[in-house]
Amino acid sequence: MSIQSGELVIILGVSRYIKFKFFKSLRFYIILLLMLVGIIPCVVMKAMVLDSYEKRAVDVRTAEIQNQCTILCNQLSSSKYLENGVSEIIQTELIQLSNVYNGRIMVMDREFVIIEDTYNLEKGKTMISEDVMNSFRGQVVSRYDGRNRFIEVAAPIKSEDDEQIIGVMLVSVSTDTIAATKALLRKKANIAEFIIILVVMAAAVFLGTVMVRPFAKITKSIGDLTDGYDTDYLHVSTYEETGLISEAFNKMLGRLKSLDESRQEFVSNVSHELKTPLTSMKVLSDSILMQKDAPVELYQEFMGDLSQEIERENKIINDLLSLVKMDKTAADMNIKSENMNEVIERILKRLQPLAAEANIEVVYESFRPVNAEIDEVKLSLAITNLVENAIKYNNKDGWVHVSLNADHKYCYIEIADSGIGIPEEETEHIFERFYRVDKSHSREIGGTGLGLSIARNVVVMHRGAIKVFSQPGEGTTFSVRIPIIYAG
Ligand SMILES: Nc1ncnc2c1ncn2[C@@H]1O[C@H](COP(=O)(O)OP(=O)(O)OP(=O)(O)O)[C@@H](O)[C@H]1O
Ligand SMILES: [Mg+2]
Repeated sequence: MSIQSGELVIILGVSRYIKFKFFKSLRFYIILLLMLVGIIPCVVMKAMVLDSYEKRAVDVRTAEIQNQCTILCNQLSSSKYLENGVSEIIQTELIQLSNVYNGRIMVMDREFVIIEDTYNLEKGKTMISEDVMNSFRGQVVSRYDGRNRFIEVAAPIKSEDDEQIIGVMLVSVSTDTIAATKALLRKKANIAEFIIILVVMAAAVFLGTVMVRPFAKITKSIGDLTDGYDTDYLHVSTYEETGLISEAFNKMLGRLKSLDESRQEFVSNVSHELKTPLTSMKVLSDSILMQKDAPVELYQEFMGDLSQEIERENKIINDLLSLVKMDKTAADMNIKSENMNEVIERILKRLQPLAAEANIEVVYESFRPVNAEIDEVKLSLAITNLVENAIKYNNKDGWVHVSLNADHKYCYIEIADSGIGIPEEETEHIFERFYRVDKSHSREIGGTGLGLSIARNVVVMHRGAIKVFSQPGEGTTFSVRIPIIYAG
């Protein structure tokens, strides 16, 4: 089966993608960590065991040779071997020892001349080495050469009579057997190590896969969200972390659900509110069309009603537009430092005729001059809505008090009225779009229930707060807090 170049490119691309993703995954790091934790101690222990075996074996062998050396040296000096020459017995012993240990024994006299060599290679030659020199000073010297694999022991031969050093015995013994045993041990350790690494790798891959499974579950649930909000709430409490993620996810899901619900409710409210004036207009025009030869006065009356309904429709659309606009342009506020006294005075002047109609006294009280960084158009809209409500939902000959105060951080605007008030259980709803307290009564007064919703949006956009205090039958106070310095 041959692979075409296009297929090859795809295979390479996919494998690179998989590799790249895998190396960034939590699973990869868990596997790596578990492997390191399992494998490193195993490798270190193997090296340590082999090393300490070698050291111990060399020490034991060296001690043995040193003992034999000392015994032989004593025998040599008692038999006056150095002065009298070859003694059969001792020579046999020397050869035996060198055979047992697979080594070489040399004996040197005071002039460093080799008088005995079990290998028979250097007899008669002179030998000066550091070990030999040290030994002539009276020390028993031993040295291990790991690379060339031998132990060398040099021991002084002392004269029996006056303890003078009369010669040196140099023994070099091969450590091939130690090396062979070590190689065998290493081979076995390697097999054990290989098996451990395989087991650790398998365990690491298994654990790594199992440990990240809860996260995969969370990812899947979040992915399912794109198919709709029907997803069940998440309960992945395998770890504390996944429990917290599930909790946060469930909160977000709840918020999304309620947002979706309020969006649907908003759409149905909008269509209902927009349809109401249209239905009235249809009824009005149909009834006038049905009446043949209707008097002009009736026409005029109906046209007046029609015009009112058109105005109502117009207001709803305008309010909706300003709400939508505010949702959209939350980011681009037109912030300028404004004199709040002047802003409020302008609003009250504009609303004066409305108050005069119901003989309502509007009082303005300013505690200090205040300059604040605000979007004048938007905030004016909010305050206008509040004062307009205070006038609209008031009693005849009532009053409206507007006050302005400030501290080093915020400016406070309060709108209090002597009006009909709001029942306590309704206060949490009045900021909702299209919410009106007493539908029948409110219908008489006229309005769409969007004013407070707009006002709250504006205040929130200024990073401020709005609160309501009300006593049914006594009056209502709205208090607004706006930061003096706009905190984008
Ligand atoms: N000062 C107030 N006194 C008594 N009730 C109030 C007052 N302000 C608001 N309300 C109640 O809260 C409801 C919501 O007010 P909001 O300003 O949002 O709507 P609206 O005045 O009915 O219509 P719009 O302001 O959109 O023309 C009102 O219908 C009214 O029942
Ligand atoms: Mg209003």
